[in-house]
Parts: sequence; C-alpha cells; structure tokens
Amino acid sequence: MVRKPTPEDRFSFGLWTVGWPARDQFGDATRPDLDPVESVHKLAELGAAHVTFHDDDVVPFGSDDAERQRILERFKQALADTGITVEMVTTNTFTHPMFKDGAFTSNDRRVRRYALRKILRNIDLAAELGAQTFVMWGGREGAEYDAAKDLYAAHQRYAEGIDTVAGYIKEKGYGLRIALEPKPNEPRGDILLPTVGHALALIARLENGDIVGLNPEVGHEQMAGLNYTTGIAQALWAEKLFHIDLNGQRSIKYDQDLVFGHGDLFSAFATVDLLENGFPSGGPKYTGPIHFDYKPSRTEGMAGVWESAEANMATYILLKERAQAFRADPEVQEALEASGVFELAKPTLDEGETLADFLANRSAYEEADVTAMAERDYHFVRLNQLALEHALGAR
Ligand code: GCO
Ligand code: MN
Ligand code: MN
Repeated sequence: MVRKPTPEDRFSFGLWTVGWPARDQFGDATRPDLDPVESVHKLAELGAAHVTFHDDDVVPFGSDDAERQRILERFKQALADTGITVEMVTTNTFTHPMFKDGAFTSNDRRVRRYALRKILRNIDLAAELGAQTFVMWGGREGAEYDAAKDLYAAHQRYAEGIDTVAGYIKEKGYGLRIALEPKPNEPRGDILLPTVGHALALIARLENGDIVGLNPEVGHEQMAGLNYTTGIAQALWAEKLFHIDLNGQRSIKYDQDLVFGHGDLFSAFATVDLLENGFPSGGPKYTGPIHFDYKPSRTEGMAGVWESAEANMATYILLKERAQAFRADPEVQEALEASGVFELAKPTLDEGETLADFLANRSAYEEADVTAMAERDYHFVRLNQLALEHALGAR
C-alpha cells in the first residue's frame, strides 16, 4: 500500500492534464469537458496541494471582461473552499490559429504584439492569484522549413519578448519568476530552445535574466534522447531550476505524456533521488512544487482520469521512499566512496596552490603513476546494481 498524499508533499497538477478531453490528431474527444472547479475539488480530495493553468483553461478565449470576472470569482471560491493554491500560471500561445507561426517569434509582427499583450495580462492574473512561477512553453516558436525563419531575428525577438515580460514583472514589483520550458519538436517540426542547455544559454544573454529560469519536462528531454536528471542537475548547478514538469516517456518518439514513472522508471528513480536527496556532496536543492504535466490516456474514462492522477503521486511517493532508503544504506555510502563519487567534490587544485606551484609539482605529471590511474576499478556497476535493488524494494 502506498500512503495517501498530503499537501506537505507539494503535489501540483496542470488543469489541462486531468481536463484533457483526449481529442487527438486522429480522433475525437473520448471524454467530456471537465469544469476547472470540479478538478480543483477532486485534486484536493486526492491530496494535491496546488493547481496550475493556462489563461484559456479557466477563462475561455474570447470571453468578455464581465464573463471573465464571473468565471474567476467562481474559480477563486473553489480555491478558498479547498485550500488549493495556484503556484504557477502559463499562457496559451499555441491553440488559436493566429499562433500557427509562433507568438514571440511569429514572422507576423501583429501576432507578436498580440501575444505580448495576452501574456502581460496573464502576468497580472498570476500575481493576483499569488503564483510564484510563470511558465513560458514556446510550443509554436519554431518552423518546419529552414528557409522559413531568419534564425538570428527569431532569437532576437524571443529574447525581446522574454525581457519585456521580465521587465514588466520587475516594474510592477510582482514576486514572480519566469520559467522557460524547452521542447525539441511537436507541434512544430523544430522548436527554438529545444533542450535545457539551449534555454540556459539564451537566459545568460538576457537583460532581465536574473528572474528567468527553467521548467524542464521529463518527456521533452527524453524525446531528444537526453538524460532528464543530467539536464535538471545542470539547471540546479546554475541555480535556474525554478519549476519541473514530471511525466513519462518511452524513448525518442512523439510526446507521450504518460504518468510519471510509466516511461523510463529507473531514470525516474534517479530524478526523484536528486530532487529529494540533492547532490551526494551537497549544493543547491530543488524546493519547489512537484508538478505533473501528463495526459490521462485516451483509453481512460473519467474514473481512469482520477486513477492516473493518483498514480503520478503514488509513484513519486514510492520512488521517494526508495531513494531515501538508497542514500541511508551504509553499503551504498561505502560504494559511493569506493566509486570516487565524493572525491569529485574536492577541487582539483589545492587551496592556495598557484599555477606556478602546480606546474612545478612533478608528482602531478612527470612522476605520476599513469599505470595505477589506468588500472583503477571504479565499481560503477556495483553501485548501479545497489540503486536498482533499492528501486525495486529488494533492500
Ligand atoms: C506540451 C507542454 C505543455 C506545457 C504547458 C505549460 O508538450 O504540451 O508540455 O503541456 O507544459 O503548455 O506551458
Ligand atoms: Mn509536454
Ligand atoms: Mn510541460
């Protein structure tokens, strides 16, 4: 039996996840539309702490001001009644046909200006609801054809858009931070900022980059054949891991959005180990919400929707328990030691050692025992097997 989640677990769900009526490119919806108010109540019952949403998930696109106000009041009442809070807000800049060539990087300047206004309005809402993070997933920022974009201009406009929004947050004094969400492709043939590394490199060149970080998604990195844990580790190292999107993906293919752990389970174990236990020798730790961005499969009915929401949390809790046992095991600590894992935390140069001292140190080079170094056995396989046995609950 898995223990029931509580708000202390910091679990969070996008309203668009459980609310997905399962319309896909090949078939109609298999489930009815879900009222966001109902989702808030149901998620609270299941033990979640937060919800997140796109502007249009709560207030349908095109609603007039009075309608918007009425919907938001009703939504806020649901939050107050359940104790659920909104930790992140994001903007839909991909559904309306006007966004077919992107938002911040559309070739059509009118679209770019409209998108910027839509996002700024949503920033006000995010601040009003007390969110801490504002996610930007540029799903349509890209192209199918290399000749279709001036890629220099596209990066300029992307940076301009993000900097403008970040500048607005600062001017208003809102307590919000922006988190960019990389994805390699889908819905565009190729998307700008395809991976964690690409996004970090763009952030480093922003004027207001101090309040811009990342929201990496498991499946998005894995669609590019990359290691999610390594990606979020670099974001943590750069102190840019502002938020996470957990889900499951089975290898390089379309964005599957499976339940967390239902893709590469052993990789999910490593992810939870890093999120919960941090780096073996210390360093920055993730303390934000545990946010799921998955899709209940099209084969599921409404009962299946809630079963799949519970499955994300149950899997996380199990992996957390297993990861804690892994780190607490003296045999694991000894294996980490034997593998040199702690040795890596020691700076390569001694404290106060000058470059001249180093170059004069014959034991580092001229008299170094290269044979002994070559013969060292790192025992990484033994360490990995210990991790696997803990992940499987065999220890
Ligand atoms: C996707 C993305 C989205 C974003 C969401 C938040 O592949 O569709 O993961 O679900 O996370 O739009 O901005
Ligand atoms: Mn996704
Ligand atoms: Mn996502």
